Amino acid sequence: MARKNQLQIATIGPQIEETKYDIFNCDAFDWLSKRETNSVHAVVTDPPYGLREYDEGQLEKRKNGNGGVWRIPPTFDGQSRSPLPRFTVLNSGDFQRLLFFFSKLAKHLMKVLVPGAHVFIATNPLVSHYVDQPFVESGFEKRGAIIRKVITLRGGDRPKNAHEEYPDVTVMPRSCWEPWELFRKPIEGTVACNLRKWKTGGLRRVSGKEPFKDLIPSSPARGAEREIAPHPSLKPQDFIRKIVRASLPLGEGTVLDPFMGSGSTIAAAMHLGYQSIGLEINEEYYNMAVTAIPKLAAL
Ligand SMILES: C[S@@+](CC[C@H](N)C(=O)[O-])C[C@H]1O[C@@H](n2cnc3c(N)ncnc32)[C@H](O)[C@@H]1O
Repeated sequence: MARKNQLQIATIGPQIEETKYDIFNCDAFDWLSKRETNSVHAVVTDPPYGLREYDEGQLEKRKNGNGGVWRIPPTFDGQSRSPLPRFTVLNSGDFQRLLFFFSKLAKHLMKVLVPGAHVFIATNPLVSHYVDQPFVESGFEKRGAIIRKVITLRGGDRPKNAHEEYPDVTVMPRSCWEPWELFRKPIEGTVACNLRKWKTGGLRRVSGKEPFKDLIPSSPARGAEREIAPHPSLKPQDFIRKIVRASLPLGEGTVLDPFMGSGSTIAAAMHLGYQSIGLEINEEYYNMAVTAIPKLAAL
């Protein structure tokens, strides 16, 4: 695959700030294998879970509206929502592949992250344990989870083909939250020592009076953001900026998104004046990110 590198110096915001970011059209694992040890200060990412949903065949099914791993949701409150990847169709082989994928990711991240670096990973209540286990086994500390409070339209349905027979039954709860697992590479000494040496170990407070909290109300990405970046898993700037901001306790260092899609994490970092690096394997999404990042950052 052709590898492209987009190095951007951008000027945004009321105070003119220079923000540098690097984005690459590449396989995240290839890139991570070549990256120096102890050179990244935080990871904020939304990885593929079905591992199949971004295959060409599944993307084609999504485009044609005939499902596959993608569920075409019904209209809700007069609003039609974008298709969502379905995790209920995964089988035991898929789960083994998930464990292998996150184990490989955790091992690479353990090498490239500095001590005390935090990793925020978007997940789903049905599959989050396939992230936790390999990360903890690879030596990361689990530091809780951020709950993005959002109605995704996952679950809440009556039994298939028996709606009238069982009108009072819901097969599984309608999901109203999205967990973002939080891990930390072990610190060297105390948090204060680690902050002095590596600029990491804690999370940036919202303000002097307010710590960073683990419950964040949010809504799905809509309107202008979707027009700028029509990626099927676009995360809204309002939410992603809050976690990207928290990821660098002193606002210094580099944030990495190894599965950047249309670049919402990189745009958030740019908006905040943080340095960042984004990786994306799919050329169409990479090209989307090239144009979307400065526009999303300017919102
Ligand atoms: C869930 S989406 C991320 C979307 C992103 N949150 C956004 O707001 O646009 C995951 C992305 O990872 C990409 N991807 C899958 N495998 C990859 C790999 N090995 N290396 C880099 N990117 C990969 C997919 O093409 C997809 O765009």
